[in-house]
Amino acid sequence: MGKLLAVALVGIAAALVGERLLALRRRLNASREVDPVELPNCRLVKGIERGSEDIDILPNGLAFISSGLKYPGMHNFAPDKPGEIFLMDLIEENPRAVELRISRGFDLASFSPHGISTYIGEDDSVYLFVVNHPHQKSTVEVFKFSEDDNSLVHLKTVRHDLLSSVNDIVAVGPDSFYATNDHYFSDFILMFLEMFLGLTWSNVVYYSPKEVKEVAAGFYSANGINISPDRKYIYVADILDHSVHVMEKHANWNLTHVKRLQLDTLLDNLFVDPYTGDIWTGCHPNGMKLIYYSPENLPASEVLRIQNILSEKPTVTRVYAENGSVLQGSSVAAVYEGKLLIGTVFHRALYCNL
Ligand SMILES: *[C@@H]1O[C@H](CO)[C@@H](O)[C@H](O)[C@H]1NC(C)=O
Repeated sequence: MGKLLAVALVGIAAALVGERLLALRRRLNASREVDPVELPNCRLVKGIERGSEDIDILPNGLAFISSGLKYPGMHNFAPDKPGEIFLMDLIEENPRAVELRISRGFDLASFSPHGISTYIGEDDSVYLFVVNHPHQKSTVEVFKFSEDDNSLVHLKTVRHDLLSSVNDIVAVGPDSFYATNDHYFSDFILMFLEMFLGLTWSNVVYYSPKEVKEVAAGFYSANGINISPDRKYIYVADILDHSVHVMEKHANWNLTHVKRLQLDTLLDNLFVDPYTGDIWTGCHPNGMKLIYYSPENLPASEVLRIQNILSEKPTVTRVYAENGSVLQGSSVAAVYEGKLLIGTVFHRALYCNL
């Protein structure tokens, strides 16, 4: 009888693990292959070879690019090199990526930049908010951009218990922002377990020096976050749910759910075109290939444009898709006056004419 019970228990455990494994493969889109969508006029950006995870563009065409992310379990072509922020002037005919100097007093050696967001202050000062993972922790670094000498002056480091596993941010003031935590846990093993079990414990947090609070919860893995041009709505990508959530922002900074748009790809960062309000995203068609990096089975790239997300039938266009032979693991797509800049988690960056 004892043996029968043991066999039964092992059988049940195996069935549960098998079921969770299948669910995880679904969330990672593990069997999807990408149908190419070509853009005729693209070139790789010189000097960017180990990631361009997130991009934000100022109204004057200056694009900030975060590079050199170290993220647990994620591939990295140069794990010993610290991260950096590049600048590209998209007004120029043939823009180059220039590394921004960072002011003294900031620990460059442990710099591991992730999501970024710009904010223009009342006196036209430009602030750059950067999610950082020094020593595998999460902080948000606030810099002031100095255009005269292409440098970033470090203003402060934000740390908070509610900012435990930060992926992306959107600045809403000179020292306030919304942030996504892509996992509940920050320990690598527990993070993996959380993903494996399919827990929906990931959230969105509002931060200001006066108040810090959870404003949305229940995501598999909240990733990219951004704001509509009229500043009424916040968009959140749930990468493991293949969806974009639209949330209404209230005067007290709370968010309420408006709608969810289901797609068939793992959405990473979100960029909002300030003129049209269109949402552009860098996506991972197959998350398994991204996590288990192999040169024989490269992670692909895919760019979507979502128009009229608030309408009953938003238009979703696959603008670019490629199997990884050119660009591996696209994580962001940002536009400026007919140009498209596509960034990746750990690979290169592609600049295209639309
Ligand atoms: C990727 O796409 C390119 C261009 O379409 C093609 O030449 C190449 O064989 C593809 N690679 C794989 C591994 O499918």
